[in-house]
Amino acid sequence: MSATQQKSALSQLIRKRRSIRSFAKRDLSPELIVELLQAAEASVLSTDQEPSHRFLLLASPDGKAKAASIVMDAYSEQGLYKWLPNKLNQLMADRIAQIPAFLIAIAKDRGEKERERATVSAVLQSLTLLAWERGIGAVWNTESFMHKPSFKLGVGVQEDERIVTILYLGYCEKVPKTKPRTPAEKKLTYL
Ligand SMILES: Cc1cc2nc3c(=O)[nH]c(=O)nc-3n(C[C@H](O)[C@H](O)[C@H](O)COP(=O)(O)O)c2cc1C
Repeated sequence: MSATQQKSALSQLIRKRRSIRSFAKRDLSPELIVELLQAAEASVLSTDQEPSHRFLLLASPDGKAKAASIVMDAYSEQGLYKWLPNKLNQLMADRIAQIPAFLIAIAKDRGEKERERATVSAVLQSLTLLAWERGIGAVWNTESFMHKPSFKLGVGVQEDERIVTILYLGYCEKVPKTKPRTPAEKKLTYL
């Protein structure tokens, strides 16, 4: 048996998962996302730890159309679309419509901020692995507009909250090849 075959399914899952940026034209059921999110949350938090982070799911055509208009408002606030606003509007709406689901991860922006962000990151890592097992890919997106007041207001993020990331989710069409990685040894110091 080769070294690869000897690896457990979990080990293979962790090693093989990739970020997916273009998705199959197939709807993603919100119920499935909630089921995976439930398991992902449970992998990180115990029941006596009250989570103060939350998620916002955009998966319906109406929700995504609303998101496109909110994103355009945020771009406008950034002064990024003085040219061809209608064409850009349409391009943005089309791009958003093509992505099956958006999961906006929101953490409290007060108190133990680092802990909050770390918790959300751990939940998202579990979620992406669980999703991968079901043929669903994801990419973590750090959009410049997500901290703009107009975007926060548009999606209902409170003043004491911060968007950690907008996770794009959908069934995988093609899995990209792995890029070269920095060996872990290079990031490790022995004391
Ligand atoms: C904190 C964080 C922020 C990221 N932000 C973005 C982003 O804004 N846009 C993007 O395309 N990918 C983003 N990614 C995904 C990385 O680019 C991706 O993990 C990296 O290219 C490695 O590829 P892999 O996930 O296929 O192994 C982010 C990942 C992390 C962990």
